[in-house]
Amino acid sequence: ATYETLLVERREGGVTLITLNRPQALNALNNQVLGELVAAAQAFDADPSQGCAVLTGSEKAFAAGADIKEMQPQSFGDMYGDNYFAGWEMFTRTRKPVIAAVAGFALGGGCELAMMCDFILAADTAKFGQPEIKLGVAPGMGGSQRLTRAVGKAKAMEMCLTGRFMDAAEAERAGLVSRVIPAAELVDEAIKVATQIAGMAPLAVKANKEMVNAAFETMLGQGVQFERRLFHGLFGTEDQKEGMTAFVEKRQGTWKGK
Ligand code: HXC
Repeated sequence: ATYETLLVERREGGVTLITLNRPQALNALNNQVLGELVAAAQAFDADPSQGCAVLTGSEKAFAAGADIKEMQPQSFGDMYGDNYFAGWEMFTRTRKPVIAAVAGFALGGGCELAMMCDFILAADTAKFGQPEIKLGVAPGMGGSQRLTRAVGKAKAMEMCLTGRFMDAAEAERAGLVSRVIPAAELVDEAIKVATQIAGMAPLAVKANKEMVNAAFETMLGQGVQFERRLFHGLFGTEDQKEGMTAFVEKRQGTWKGK
């Protein structure tokens, strides 16, 4: 498929690189971007040759937010009636990992989209923020919830109430991003990490993603139970036999995804 607001490339080793490409609007997320990104994520998920995706933007902006020009004339009835942006939930249903590689601005919906990915690798130029309050509104793509879970109440509340941006170093200290990388190396490093993940046993990758995500939806005991059941389930796979046998025989495992 070809897209107008995205570039999608399949790299060697089962890595899909998705680049947001609306430079004239700093990758602002409108309904077209939403539709195309959900379609690209579903195509990636459905393609057995692909194991991990990287979602990135430009050097200047991962995404500067939801599209303010698209939202500006909308009424409550329009937004509520259309359930505006509910479609982003479909993006979060991607079962294979998606890494956000963030350089420059990740603001409002841009920060929220990065947080919908499985983890964030940040360039040293990255700036995160939820400045919706300055527009007279509030986050609408999960920011008040995911940012609070990621960095705790104090920082999330301050950021939402003042619109202040967090730079990459602060984002790493606060646990919003897994690592900070020099901007010039960001995408290569993200592809390297994605290639590593794409080389793991596919069912184990899905199980690991699913169980870490369960930590956000369950109480501890329930989450541990969920983990244990999925862990038991992996002993029904050929890749578990292969992985453990390969270790015992001191060789590299080869995966079937079965
Ligand atoms: C639409 C946007 C945009 C946005 C930038 N642009 N952000 N268009 N929606 N979110 C457009 C500008 O209008 C401009 O187009 C072009 O991109 C370049 O932007 P500039 O402002 O000229 O660039 P610069 O001066 O470098 O400033 C960069 C910036 C600033 C600090 C990131 O653009 C900015 O503050 N953007 C808005 C950030 C924001 O408030 N995001 C939250 C959005 S609300 P023209 O045609 O004028 O040249 C949100 C809600 C989520 O995300 C909930 C959804 C339901």
